[in-house]
Amino acid sequence: MSENELADELRTMRVAYELGSLEESGLAATWHEQLARWLAEATSVGLPEPNAMVLATADGHGRPAARTVLCKGLDERGVVFYTNYTSAKSRDLLATGLAAATFPWFGMQRQVHVRGPVTKVDPAETAAYWATRPRGSQLGAWASPQSETVTSRQELDARLAEVDRRFASQEEIPPPPHWGGWRIEPQVVEFWQGRLNRMHDRLAYVRDYGDWRIRRLAP
Ligand SMILES: Cc1cc2nc3c(=O)[nH]c(=O)nc-3n(C[C@H](O)[C@H](O)[C@H](O)COP(=O)(O)O)c2cc1C
Repeated sequence: MSENELADELRTMRVAYELGSLEESGLAATWHEQLARWLAEATSVGLPEPNAMVLATADGHGRPAARTVLCKGLDERGVVFYTNYTSAKSRDLLATGLAAATFPWFGMQRQVHVRGPVTKVDPAETAAYWATRPRGSQLGAWASPQSETVTSRQELDARLAEVDRRFASQEEIPPPPHWGGWRIEPQVVEFWQGRLNRMHDRLAYVRDYGDWRIRRLAP
């Protein structure tokens, strides 16, 4: 396909959203029960990586960046993901203390957006999650200086081999000190269901001095 053909194609690509609707009366009592319900539905219909969310951060100058991470915890305290604490995203989070994340469930014509302050997950909780990770992922977390420039693929492979040797005699690998969880403690959680004619349903749980209220937002 040529670039011109693609440009034509892009202009005409659109989907009529008619899989569902979202009513105030159908919402769970709390944002986390509602998010758990939609995550369970996204999982049961077989969406790929239903716990993947696009995490947005900004650096100290307000320069934004976004990337995908996996949601590994959800309860009334917030939404948890794990990463390298020296990565670009963690530097942003340390600078601003704020994040936003969006679950893009296109197959269900849904998205959920959360945003609010972030806190580091307590080391005991990080260690409990770390223990459930496959050994290969654990070695990768030790080996990769996430977000740094590396000279080559060979350098990365050599780092992995070195870490593999270092821990060869240890059945259990400890979590690296530079690795752990972040918890987004949402002030806003918006549930979006696509509707016909771009008249989508948007219902947001908004925290207002400790109380949660539901607001309907225009699409
Ligand atoms: C589906 C998917 C899931 C991912 N999950 C994570 C994750 O849970 N934690 C993480 O650090 N990176 C994850 N990544 C990689 C990140 O998107 C990103 O490349 C990496 O964290 C470096 O980001 P940064 O340089 O902005 O800090 C995932 C990528 C994809 C595509």
